[in-house]
Amino acid sequence: MKYYIPLACIALLLSCAPEKPVTSIETPTPYTINKTAKASDGMVVSAHPLATQVGIDILASGGNAYDAMIATQFALAVVYPRAGNIGGGGFLVTRLNDGSTMALDFREKAPKLAYRDMYLDSLGEVIPGLSRNGHLSSGVPGTVAGMYEIYDRLGSFDSFAELIEPAYQIAQNGFQISQAEADRLNTYKADFLTYNTRSNQFIEKEQWHAGDTLIQEDLAESLKRIMDQGPAGFYEGKTAELIVAEMGRSNGIMSLEDLKDYQAKWKIPVKGSYKGLNIISMPSPSSGGIALIQMLGMLEYLKLDELEHHDPLAMNAMIEAMRIAFEDRANYLGDADFYPVPVDRLLNRAYLDNRISSFSFGDAGQSDPKGHSGIRIEMESFETTHTSIIDQEGHAASLTTTLNSNYGSKVLVDGAGFFLNNEMDDFSAKPGAPNIYGMVGSEANAIEAEKRMLSSMTPTIIEKEGELYMVLGTPGGSAIITSILQVILNTTDFNMDLNDAVQSGRIHHQWLPDAVMYETGKLDTTLLKNLEEMGYEMVEKTSLAKVKAIQVLPDGVYYGVGDERNPDDHAQGINMN
Ligand code: DON
Repeated sequence: MKYYIPLACIALLLSCAPEKPVTSIETPTPYTINKTAKASDGMVVSAHPLATQVGIDILASGGNAYDAMIATQFALAVVYPRAGNIGGGGFLVTRLNDGSTMALDFREKAPKLAYRDMYLDSLGEVIPGLSRNGHLSSGVPGTVAGMYEIYDRLGSFDSFAELIEPAYQIAQNGFQISQAEADRLNTYKADFLTYNTRSNQFIEKEQWHAGDTLIQEDLAESLKRIMDQGPAGFYEGKTAELIVAEMGRSNGIMSLEDLKDYQAKWKIPVKGSYKGLNIISMPSPSSGGIALIQMLGMLEYLKLDELEHHDPLAMNAMIEAMRIAFEDRANYLGDADFYPVPVDRLLNRAYLDNRISSFSFGDAGQSDPKGHSGIRIEMESFETTHTSIIDQEGHAASLTTTLNSNYGSKVLVDGAGFFLNNEMDDFSAKPGAPNIYGMVGSEANAIEAEKRMLSSMTPTIIEKEGELYMVLGTPGGSAIITSILQVILNTTDFNMDLNDAVQSGRIHHQWLPDAVMYETGKLDTTLLKNLEEMGYEMVEKTSLAKVKAIQVLPDGVYYGVGDERNPDDHAQGINMN
C-alpha cells in the first residue's frame, strides 16, 4: 500500500477555496436514464439509476416504501460516493397511507470535544478551510442509525441485512461509474491527496472515465458489519475503531463515545398550508420546513396566481419572500434541542403578513446586513442526495441525506472505505462568518458539543384535499429551500406539468449576499433585464438544485420526475400486474 506524507494540520494553512467547478463532457453512461416515469403501484426517483433499480427491486419483492428507501440509500452510498453515504446524515419526512406523518432526524452532531470557537484563531478570526475540509470538519455520522430506525419502526422486511445486501453486492463486485462521477473523481483527486494520509482506490487510478469499474472492498466489509450487527456494526467495533484511528491521523476529534452515543430522533414534522395544500416538511435542525412555509405564507398573502410564470413581478414577490425567510433563518434558527427556536411565531400568519406588508410590486427590497459583511456565495458544485418513493399501499417517503460538499471532508476512512462528512461547516463558526453557501447564522446555530448543525435540507410531502399529492426534495445547499418553493408554485399557481415545473429555470435569494442568483441560459433575457431595472443585482449560476419529485395524478397514477440538472437522476415506476 502506498503512503502519503501525513498532512495533519495542513488544513490550517489552506485558504478557504470554493468548491471546484466540474468540467463535464457528457458521453453516454452505461445506463439507460429516464427523467420521467408513470406507474400505478410504486415509484422511486433517486440520484442514480442503479440505486433507483435497487429500490424498485425491493418494491417488486413485496417491500414497502421504507424498505425500498433504506436499500436505495445504502446503494447510493456505493454508487454515488460524492453524496450517497454512510459517513453523513440526513432527514426523512414520511406520510403513511393512514394519513399519519412523521419525521426522522439523523443529522450529524458535533463531537463531544467540539466547542463554540473551535474554528477561530487567537484573534477570533475564522481559520480558512478548517470547518470545510479534513478531519476536523466532520460531525458524528447519523445515516446508519437513521436507516435502522426507519427499518425498526416502519420496515416490513424480515431483516435489515436483506436491505443492505444489494449495496453490499455492488460494492463487492463493482459497477460502472457514470460520466458525472468520473468528472468529479478527477476534479477532486488533488483534494483526496491533500486530506488523506493513506492511499485508496479513488486516488490510485490516474484518470477516471465513464464506464470504468469501481470496486469498493473496504466499503463492502463495512456494509457487511452493519448487515451482521445492525447499527453496532458501524457505531461500535471495527468500523468505529477505524473512524477513530482515521481521526488520529490528523486533527480529528470524533471519539468512540461519540459514535456509541449517536441516536436518531423522531420528530413531529413542521406543517403549513398553501392555497388548500397541506405542506408537511422537516423541522429543526432543518431550516427547510420553516422557511418554506414562511415563504408560501407570504406569497399566499400576495396572491401570486394572478401573475404568469416567470412574470418579473411574480419573481419580484418571490425574491422578497425569500429575503425575509432567510433573514429569519440567520437570526432565529438552529437546533431546537439546544436553543429556543420561536417556531410558532415565525409561522404565525399575522407575523408573516406583517413581514411582507411593506412589499410593493416592482420595487427591490434591501438586506440590512447588521454587521454581516463580505459574504460571497460559491454554489457551483455541491452534492447532496434526495430520494422520493411512494409504494403500492400509498406510503410516501421523502429522504434527503448528505456529506455536505462533494465527498464531504474528502477524508476516506482508511480500511472502512467511506467518506466522512464536512457538516461542521453548517454551524455558524462565529456570528457573521458565512458557511460554504454564504449563509450566516447567530447564537441559535453556534457550535456546542453534541448539538446538530442547522440544515437547509427540505424533504417534503404535500397533501391536496387531505390526500397524498406530492413527494419532493433536492440537494442544493441553501437553494434547496427556494427550489422546492418554485416547484410548488409552478405546479400550483402556474398549473405546470410536474416535469416542466422541475426543469424550468430557477432563481435564488438568501438575504445575504443581497443578490439574485439565476441559472445560466434558463431565464428569459427580458426577465433578467426587468429584474435588474427593479434594482436587483443578478448573479449567474450554472445550476440551482436537482429536484426529485413524485406527483399523484388525479387517476391515482404516480408521476415521477428526476432533474435534468443531474445527468444521473433516474425515475422508475412499477406496475404489479
Ligand atoms: O444540510 C445542509 O443544508 C447542507 N449540508 C446541504 C448540502 C447540499 O445540499 C449540497 N448539495 N448540493
